[in-house]
This record gives sequence, structure tokens and C-alpha cells, in this order.
Amino acid sequence: MVARYVLSIDQGTNSTRCILFDHHGRMVSVAQRVHQQHFPRPGWVEHDAVEIWRNLQRLVPVALSDAGAGADEVAAVGIANQRETTVLWDRRTGVPLDRAIVWQDTRTASLVDDLRQRPGEEFFLERCSLPPSTYFSALRIRWLFDHVSGLEQRAKDGEVLFGTMESWLIWNLTGGVNGGLHITDATNASRTMLMNIRTLTWDEELLAFFGVPRTMLPEIRSSAERYGEARSVLPGVGITAALGDQQAALFGQTCFSPGEAKCTYGTGSFLLLNTGTDVVRSRHGLLTTVAYQIGDRPPVYALEGSIAVTGSLVQWFRDRLGLISSAPEIETLALTVEDNGGCYIVPAFSGLFAPRWRSDARGVIVGLTSYITKGHLARAVLEATGWQTREVVDAMNADSSVALKQLKVDGGMTADNLLMQFVADVLDVPVVRPMVAETVSLGAAYAAGLAAGYWPDLEVLRRNWHRAAQWMPDMDPGRREAEYDNWQRAVERSLGWMR
Ligand code: G3P
Repeated sequence: MVARYVLSIDQGTNSTRCILFDHHGRMVSVAQRVHQQHFPRPGWVEHDAVEIWRNLQRLVPVALSDAGAGADEVAAVGIANQRETTVLWDRRTGVPLDRAIVWQDTRTASLVDDLRQRPGEEFFLERCSLPPSTYFSALRIRWLFDHVSGLEQRAKDGEVLFGTMESWLIWNLTGGVNGGLHITDATNASRTMLMNIRTLTWDEELLAFFGVPRTMLPEIRSSAERYGEARSVLPGVGITAALGDQQAALFGQTCFSPGEAKCTYGTGSFLLLNTGTDVVRSRHGLLTTVAYQIGDRPPVYALEGSIAVTGSLVQWFRDRLGLISSAPEIETLALTVEDNGGCYIVPAFSGLFAPRWRSDARGVIVGLTSYITKGHLARAVLEATGWQTREVVDAMNADSSVALKQLKVDGGMTADNLLMQFVADVLDVPVVRPMVAETVSLGAAYAAGLAAGYWPDLEVLRRNWHRAAQWMPDMDPGRREAEYDNWQRAVERSLGWMR
């Protein structure tokens, strides 16, 4: 049977998606399931890793049958995943030791304060290029060791495995307790605070500092190579790519050359700029991260502006405040008013990420008067995404000393025209979206297909990129800067709220 498709798995913060792509990079079928978000305490966010694995087992047959395809028509599987979310499981039983701690979770905030004092930010920046933050995995492992009796010793004894979601899924897909592969890729490992950003190996000093035994860590592999074959769900099909979802989106947007950038608008938003094979250190609050590594070729790096809360603010507006019943309604509601009425929302639910890295920030709504309606709040929700994008673009321009000329965007929120126009307005550059807005999935498929020989090279992938929509800037410069000033004053009020 001729391999007609590549299967992409996007294990995201809200849902898991399986998409079959053909040679032209077109989506042939899509299957998706959301999983439950657990918020057991303020600032805590958890997922059930078993629920996610079960969802995947259900989704793959649906994606295949919707396309009328058999497993033997799938050339390869690629995985993209929410990064940093930490799962620990029992090597012998395959059962997670607790719920996964999600990247948005802030329970490690006091640990972050300690690390900033001693050994200080520079110790970490030098080795893993990440500042101390609740965002990254190593602090969660340390927190679990400090709070679950006997866990650290069990980990030292080799009974416990650590992984982010791609490791957990690959281990299960390739046999689980019966010899499953315990691996990760360099993009995901670069988000743990445990990998040396230059050597792409686990860093002895960081492991010693956090007290993480090497035996619980997955082997670091490239982002595109044949890791092994699936033994369940798609028996016999090669698993040939894994990337963090934001790096996958960069790949799916075909940003293969230094200077090319994209921003993905999902639960959070993540702007990545390809910086080539050199490790470029940010002076303005961006992260240096591995963009991708194809087989034994040198790794390609990126500067990243990570924004923790954008789409999840819309979800909060829908699920927790009940002001809309579906996410797209936010645009309709925002269009009932002309402007934000002087109201700004700073969604520092997980502290603030780039470029400020303030774990002590919490969300604020400022400018409330009795004039404000839910329409103004809806505007302020959308505008918060625009202003946060502006802050990371300013940092990126300052770091690269070349101003961004256009922004490639993707992800669910790009369906919102009002928001995309606002992003173009506040950045003062054109914003463009490709035909396939599911670039996370596409990027994982591209990497898997390259490794499996389904696509020959990067040039072929580039030719698949077609523009579907464009928004041109159209805002009075005086108004833009005055409102940006208001936004920054609002941000000041969110800082230091957590003591
Ligand atoms: O770093 C977190 C990021 O990978 C989450 O992405 O799209 O699942 O919210 P998303």
C-alpha cells in the first residue's frame, strides 16, 4: 500500500487533535477531543495524563476512518505538544503518580523567589538560557519531591519516570510497561531548565542543583528522526518527529531562515524568531530556545516571547464569568461598542511571562466606571492579547536591532478579525495568516514526513505555504501610543500583588 498521509498528533493545553495531512500539506481529516482542566486551588492547573492518553487512543481511529484510510497508508506519525507540563509515572505499572502539573500552574512561585536570590538568574541563563520562573518543568519536579513523601528516593531508585506530554505519549504508543521508549526531543528538553542549551544534553550542574536524578529523565533525541514504531493504536507505523507545539508552529509556517518569525494564538501566545544555528542571548526578556533539530544536522535556535494568557482569557470570560456561551461570541460582543471605554484587563493569571517574568503579578481590571458594559470588557479581553504581543515584539526588535516587517500568525484566535486588525494596528505592521491555520499540527507532520522521506526537503514545504488573509495597520499613531501608555500603567498595577 502506498503511504498517502502523515498523521499529526497535537497534544495541546485544551485538547488533543489528530490530523491526517497529504503531500500538499492539506488537512484530509481532523479528530479532536478536549480534556478536563482541573483548578484545585488558586494558581494551580492540572491535567489527567491518563485521560489524555485515552483520548488519543480514541482519536486516531476516527481520523483514519474519516479519511477512509487504513494504518498502512500512514507514512509516519509526528507529535507536537504543550510544553513544560510535567508528568511523573511509575516505570513498573505505567500509572501516573499524580495529575500532570500544567505549564500555567504557579505553585512553585516561592521557589522562584529563592532561586532569584541564590544562585541567581545568571546561573540559569548561562546554562539553559531560561530565567527562574514557575513556567518550567524542573521546579515542578522539585516541588513534587518536596511535597510527596518518599518520591525523591523512589526517583533515585529508578522507579519513577519524568516526561512532558510527548514523552508520556511516545512511551505509551511504543509499548508502555512492555519496553516503551522513554525519549524526548531537544525542543521540549530545552524547556525543562535541565538541558544545556549548547550541548543539548542534560546538564550535570542543573541536575545537581535541582536534585533531579538522571535515571528519571528521558533520552534527548533530535526533533525529526525515526525513534521507533508504534505498538498500539497504529501498530507498525514509525514515530518520526516530536516538537514542542510552538516550535512545531514555526516549522509549519516554514520559518526556516534566520529572521523569520511567527506568533501562534492559542491558550497562550508565543512569538518565535528563527535565529539560525547560533545561540543568541536576549537582553530584553525573551527566551532562547531550540527551534528544531533535524536528524544529525546542527540545531536551529529561536528567540521566544511567551505570553501565558490570551485565548485562556476568552475561556475564562466564557466559562468562569459566563458572559458569552462560545469563544467566537467575544468578537460579536466587542463589536457592540466603539472602544474599550477606558477599561484594560491585564490577565496575569500565571504571573507575567515575557518580557517581564514576574511571578508576583496577578490579574487586574482597571478603569472601571459605571459606564462600562460587558461589551467594553470583551474589547479589553481582546486588546490584552494585542498589547501583550506589542510588548514581546518591542523586546524582539530591541534584541535583533532589526524591526519586524510583518507578522505571520496562526492558531484558533486568528479567526477573530477584530483581534487580528488590532494586532496589526498596535504593531504597525501587516499581519498575515496562511491557508492552513493549524500550523502546530502541520509542523509536526512536516518534521515527521521529512524524516520518513515523505517530503524530500524544506524547499518543497516552503512551496506549500499560501497566504489566506492579511490585515493592514490602520490606527492613528498618537492614539496607539497613548493607549499603549495606558496599558503599561495597567501592567504596573498588576506587579507585586502576590507577596
Ligand atoms: O509553553 C506552553 C505552550 O506550549 C502551550 O501551547 O497551544 O497548548 O496552549 P498551547
